Amino acid sequence: KVDDCEIVSLPKIHNNAGNITVIENNITIPFDVKRVYYLYDVPMGSERGGHGHYELQQYIVALSGSFTFVLDDGICKKEVFLNDPSKALHIRPGIWREIKNFSSGSICLVLASAMYSEEDYLRDYNEFLNYRKDDTSTF
Ligand code: TYD
Repeated sequence: KVDDCEIVSLPKIHNNAGNITVIENNITIPFDVKRVYYLYDVPMGSERGGHGHYELQQYIVALSGSFTFVLDDGICKKEVFLNDPSKALHIRPGIWREIKNFSSGSICLVLASAMYSEEDYLRDYNEFLNYRKDDTSTF
């Protein structure tokens, strides 16, 4: 459910010379990170996402700038604004997401629980709704 996609505070080591944030497998992040990628040079006004995943879990961090994730579990929607590199959004399996309002120069870091697999994508919204309707276990 979208309510289970929470914002997590990451460890922050702060001193006069700036900050370090650390993410360690299975400690600060509840899954094995199999893939890291980032979105950048997103033109103003562009929207990304527009898909769901059957299994994939992700941690999303606004490394620079800001953007908004719109999460949808087929029943409820919620918007999450990210602009803090010491916070991560945990996206659980079976969530439709859209990403909008990228600020200029923003960088969206994604830590993912699996390698890229097109078979894990739900790219059609009606297909996603049907899948969620049948998937009573997660409701
Ligand atoms: P997609 O996940 O649809 O992008 P977004 O959600 O950011 O809008 O991916 C866009 C394209 O990039 C798609 O053709 C698949 C490709 N891609 C890879 O080849 N490997 C990857 O790890 C990712 C995330 C995308």
